[in-house]
Amino acid sequence: MNGQHPRRRAVLKGLAATGIVLVAPAAGFAGWVWVDSGRSNTGTLSFRNRLRIPPLLDPATDRDGRRRFRLDLREGSTEFLPGTRTDTWGANGTYLGPTLRARRGDRVAVDVSNHLPERTTMHWHGMHLPAEMDGGPHQPIERDATWQPSWTVDQPAATLWYHPHLHRATAKHVYRGVAGLFLVDDPVTDALPLPGRYGVDDVPLIVQDKKIADDGSLDESTLAFGGLTVTGLLGDRILVNGTYDPRFEVTTELVRFRLLNGSNARIYHVGFTDDREFALVAVDSGLLGAPERMNRLPLSPGERAEIVVRFAPGDEVVMRSFPPPLGATFAYERLAGGDDEHDLVKFVAGRTLRPAPALPGVLAERAPAPTPTGDPFRLTMGDFTFNDRTMEMRRLDRVVGAGTVERWEIVNDQSIPHNFHVHGASFHVLDVDGRTPPAHLHGAKDTVYVAPGTTVTLAVSFLPWSDARTPYMFHCHLLAHEDSGMMGQFVTVSDADRALVRSDRLPQVHDHGG
Ligand code: C2O
Ligand code: CU
Ligand code: CU
Repeated sequence: MNGQHPRRRAVLKGLAATGIVLVAPAAGFAGWVWVDSGRSNTGTLSFRNRLRIPPLLDPATDRDGRRRFRLDLREGSTEFLPGTRTDTWGANGTYLGPTLRARRGDRVAVDVSNHLPERTTMHWHGMHLPAEMDGGPHQPIERDATWQPSWTVDQPAATLWYHPHLHRATAKHVYRGVAGLFLVDDPVTDALPLPGRYGVDDVPLIVQDKKIADDGSLDESTLAFGGLTVTGLLGDRILVNGTYDPRFEVTTELVRFRLLNGSNARIYHVGFTDDREFALVAVDSGLLGAPERMNRLPLSPGERAEIVVRFAPGDEVVMRSFPPPLGATFAYERLAGGDDEHDLVKFVAGRTLRPAPALPGVLAERAPAPTPTGDPFRLTMGDFTFNDRTMEMRRLDRVVGAGTVERWEIVNDQSIPHNFHVHGASFHVLDVDGRTPPAHLHGAKDTVYVAPGTTVTLAVSFLPWSDARTPYMFHCHLLAHEDSGMMGQFVTVSDADRALVRSDRLPQVHDHGG
């Protein structure tokens, strides 16, 4: 198949999530570990469905002059596979949610109404806002209740997203479909000659993998890790913006894609079937200083990337996720999806394409990574802990000075792939095992892949708000890991508020956990 090694079925016995993997190589060389009937989708698609573009949500202007958005979370059913229905959850629809959009300086508010059958939360991933607006596990939304966070957007233009964050239920709520994009605009980015017409040449691509049975039912049996499921659920059906088997018609020479890995556990390695080059222009927290040319882009759960791709008239090409280099031993590589290959979406370019100006050589005046002060904070990832502890709603794992920059060293000395996301901050990757980070880790980010046996050093710039009572989270964004406790919490406090933090217990935490 496609010139690859033939995959052989090897019998696996006594495989445990944390144990050693014994493989019986069938032909005397290191064979392929077989987990199930394979999770690749290449060759199975016909690209018959037009790519759905999540609608832009129109805000109202409220009495206080805020742009006020409304998200109604509901159960529903969606046709993914032709002729079948899948029970799903969504925001203002049956699967996923609309795209929220605001400009730097806007005062925004969101009414989030929970009509789901259980409590949830709504987190603004990557948004710079006070901890009580963050929508983490400490801001639950009960059934039929409405939560009304509001804040002033004040950060560089970026592709952010929203999703539930209820402790121990995040994997399920996101998997069922509650997620969407939140785009931040600013004058710096508006002034650049980047493609910017939403849904035309500025196209969101929310990539998710699912296990959907032929009858349309969503298989949730491996949402939690355990047994062979070392990173959580890995599906073989790809949805892009909730569209199965998608195609997009290209009408312009340059298209900017805003990629979001909205999957529970799958790590993608994005490229094109003709290996064409593309330009990475932005990562999680905004623009790079200059476009970075590449033909493969790794993207772990929660990460975003904006790429600009050039098309020629009549082009037909598939965006594919090639086997991602996870940096694990070959057995864990297989278990975590490192052998899997997925067609994501096919692009069909028209006979004439609207001309586009060349990409600028410089995108933004980027100051060098800020210099951390104070003692480094070291977080060692276990399977599935930080510094040997699992998440505890009442325990504080760190007190940080509001508005400071700290050096955080994230150590994965185990066998299983993880990634690292921190709320209430953006960070620069200073080094990976002492080496200069690769191009896709340049710029300001909020989520980073941490390969087995690797230490990633970050300069984390914390937000200016002070709140001694309400924590922000850091966690692995492989949702099964997060749900099983691979998460911790910190507060950011001014010097004056530091005295309000007593010991490592949160004094008045709203503990609705479990
Ligand atoms: Cu996207 Cu704490 O999460
Ligand atoms: Cu987040
Ligand atoms: Cu993890």
